[in-house]
Amino acid sequence: MAVRLQRPLVAAACLFLCCVAGVRCGPDPRLRKELIDLEASMQIGGRMVLTDAEQRLDALLAKLKQDEMSRKDFPPSMHFFKARRLIQASPLFGLLQEMPKGAVLHVHDFAMVDVEWLVKNATYRPNCYMCFTDSASVRFVFASQGPKPVERCSPWVLLESLRAKMGNATKLDNSIRGNLTLFTDRDPETEYPSQDVVWNRFEAAFGALWGLVTFAPVFRDYYMEALNQFYADNVMYLELRALLPQVYELDGCTHDQAWTLQTYQDLTKEFISTHPDFYGVRIIFTNHRHAKLSVVTEAVKKAMQLQKDFPDFLAGFDLVGREDQGKTLWYFRDALALPAEKGATLPYFFHAGETNFQGTEVDQNLLDALLLNTSRIGHGFALQRHPVAKDLSRKRRVAVEVCPISNQVLKLVKDLRNHPATALMMEDHPLVISSDDPAMFGSSPLSSDFYEAFVGFGGLKSHVGSLKQLAINSIRWRCARTVPTGPAGRGLNFPVSVSGSAL
Ligand SMILES: *[C@@H]1O[C@H](CO)[C@@H](O)[C@H](O)[C@H]1NC(C)=O
Ligand SMILES: *[C@@H]1O[C@H](CO)[C@@H](O)[C@H](O)[C@H]1NC(C)=O
Ligand SMILES: *[C@@H]1O[C@H](CO)[C@@H](O)[C@H](O)[C@H]1NC(C)=O
Ligand SMILES: *[C@@H]1O[C@H](CO)[C@@H](O)[C@H](O)[C@H]1NC(C)=O
Ligand SMILES: [Zn+2]
Repeated sequence: MAVRLQRPLVAAACLFLCCVAGVRCGPDPRLRKELIDLEASMQIGGRMVLTDAEQRLDALLAKLKQDEMSRKDFPPSMHFFKARRLIQASPLFGLLQEMPKGAVLHVHDFAMVDVEWLVKNATYRPNCYMCFTDSASVRFVFASQGPKPVERCSPWVLLESLRAKMGNATKLDNSIRGNLTLFTDRDPETEYPSQDVVWNRFEAAFGALWGLVTFAPVFRDYYMEALNQFYADNVMYLELRALLPQVYELDGCTHDQAWTLQTYQDLTKEFISTHPDFYGVRIIFTNHRHAKLSVVTEAVKKAMQLQKDFPDFLAGFDLVGREDQGKTLWYFRDALALPAEKGATLPYFFHAGETNFQGTEVDQNLLDALLLNTSRIGHGFALQRHPVAKDLSRKRRVAVEVCPISNQVLKLVKDLRNHPATALMMEDHPLVISSDDPAMFGSSPLSSDFYEAFVGFGGLKSHVGSLKQLAINSIRWRCARTVPTGPAGRGLNFPVSVSGSAL
């Protein structure tokens, strides 16, 4: 880089001297071009050499992006809930859906499958009971006999009977859907006026879906459905942050965490057997950051044990939940230092810097995550405001998992053109694009976030090289001790079979 930087500097010095000497003095167009090219080369994928086919694809992408940017409602500047229809209808989005996007490295276990599936499939199964909570939410449970009542919830009603009684269940299904996702057709700014409101609803939605997705038959089908939906969106590999709950059966018996992990592994193998070009899945075991120190200590120990038992499947450990309300990484430092003390390696994938408060205790999470040798940084929204953390992340190649739509819906930024990752992309900081909780946001498994990054962050500057680099980054920064054995196909070859007639 140093060598490349020198030429424009020399040129700039020359420009200055020319002026002093009184020679005709104006901005030098050649110098201007050099500076522009220099900046362009510094961005993500800026120095990618493109094949002829890729250049043709790029010309098409550029044209489609011009169309997006010239419309009155520029989708990345709008709340995703309002922009979704525009994005889905845009030809550029269709093209992005068909392109290989590599891996999703930041997504949560129970926010992967389109909520429609939960409503129309899971809640329509026999033996599904529902109750209405004091706080206008709902709870579900599957049980062979009348389930035990739960606190602050109405008596259980069998959904099958409730629907039969109603005749037309559309309204009921709509209200169930409303409880299982944040997405709404109403005005999102009115519905979610503050971070507190949106986070409360976000956590309430997880509370509502819990009894559905932890029922063994639904748990299995949900995961397979998730893999199908991600695969259909051209995602070839996943690292899944999973709470590994105790999954239950119809008679109320529960399984332990090892069973849950084993089930994920078995189902993944099953999926690969029918989709041989899918690379696979790794699990990042997570615990809630609101938990007590003793609970997190046990969770870290459990993670070490599970990693011993599933060395090729368990990737590492993370803490989840709202950072601004949770305990800090520093608070958990003794628990998190256990693996190093015991000579074990438990990779960390910490959520850190998912905040826009500066200087709070929580705002130190970014530096502490790096101090604890995190392998990647979840969100890192605050990274631009931490020059030391940013420098360390760059030098140690600790990639930031950027989740544009999540940051917008959870109210860290309104207009995605102002997202801090715009600058990170322009300087090719190690980063990947991810979707966090697509089912909660009504977004696609990855393409919607790719759209926001490509169009909103990249503007007219990003090109097919940027997309290619993003996909390559997601493969480069996966946690894999073994190289995936599948054909090295879809993940990295650009362009793939883009079925656009324009090509
Ligand atoms: C739910 O999905 C499963 C598989 O994903 C399928 O076998 C089943 O028939 C579906 N059930 C309903 C009620 O749609
Ligand atoms: C059920 O009710 C909804 C409105 O709540 C209506 O749009 C729909 O047509 C009704 N369906 C039937 C089969 O009557
Ligand atoms: C959640 O369900 C309750 C009970 O049916 C309903 O009153 C409420 O409106 C639903 N919430 C949303 C956001 O749809
Ligand atoms: C982080 O890495 C350093 C250097 O390898 C090591 O000394 C330290 O113990 C590690 N810390 C943790 C918490 O793993
Ligand atoms: Zn997350």
